[in-house]
Amino acid sequence: MAAVTQLGYIGINVSDLDAWEQFATEALGLQVSGRDADGSLFLKMDEYHHRFILHASKDDDLAYAGWQVSDERALHEMAEQLKAAGVEPSFGSSEEAVARRVEGLIKFQDPSGIPSEVFFGPPMNFDDPFNSPRPISGFVTGEMGLGHIVLFVDSREESIRFYRDVLGMRISDFIRSMAFFHCNPRHHTLALMEAKAPKRLNHFMLQLNSINDVGATYDMCQEKGIPVVRGLGRHTNDHMVSFYLRTPSGFDVEYGWGAREVDDATWQVARHEKGSIWGHKPPAENAVSRS
Ligand SMILES: [Fe+2]
Repeated sequence: MAAVTQLGYIGINVSDLDAWEQFATEALGLQVSGRDADGSLFLKMDEYHHRFILHASKDDDLAYAGWQVSDERALHEMAEQLKAAGVEPSFGSSEEAVARRVEGLIKFQDPSGIPSEVFFGPPMNFDDPFNSPRPISGFVTGEMGLGHIVLFVDSREESIRFYRDVLGMRISDFIRSMAFFHCNPRHHTLALMEAKAPKRLNHFMLQLNSINDVGATYDMCQEKGIPVVRGLGRHTNDHMVSFYLRTPSGFDVEYGWGAREVDDATWQVARHEKGSIWGHKPPAENAVSRS
């Protein structure tokens, strides 16, 4: 069975591309990696040419998730798995592969209608190393992909069956009704919540190399008035120390450090009743009275 190996890239539809460019570079420390002919903005965080493509749109939500597989054979195998599950993928044209800078891809929708892509041959740029516009030590990526995404889905059970049994991800654990999945040592690359929400994307997560990157960015947000929606805290399941910023699109970014990793040989699925060991409180609860 073919299985996705990492979240290689995501596309985001944004209504204010200029605000996003400023937010991505000045707050998150991502690097602009050029623009496509249609004006879409590429952002990089490592040796990939890009990990994010921001598309000017009237919407503000995930445009598509780009799931990586190892090679062309795995891509075709995944196409067969999708067909067997009743999902008809379309093979990306050469123009579509060029637009993503990948060797080959298929496109389809997940059970909630979320646009999804499986690709092989990611766009590497070792000759143009990542150089953050901010003084941070960089991001934890490599074989663990860009980070994680948390999605609102129509049916928890149908989505679990799809991501586990068709895309080949493994369950990491549960926090109440939320399901967390891994496809490499990163504790979770995907988490799902069954809920009707205005957007499909709840948040995406970037993992930093140093807790100092997280702390310094937290301080900078306070100083510059960049909205923090959940203060510093540590999660129960992946043990990540993080806080959450509000993006110009209204969904959030988790900015974290220190997550534990999954070893499939020994991992045991657990259930947690709480999302955080400590912290992750909304700002009002963080505020210290100065009176
Ligand atoms: Fe998260």
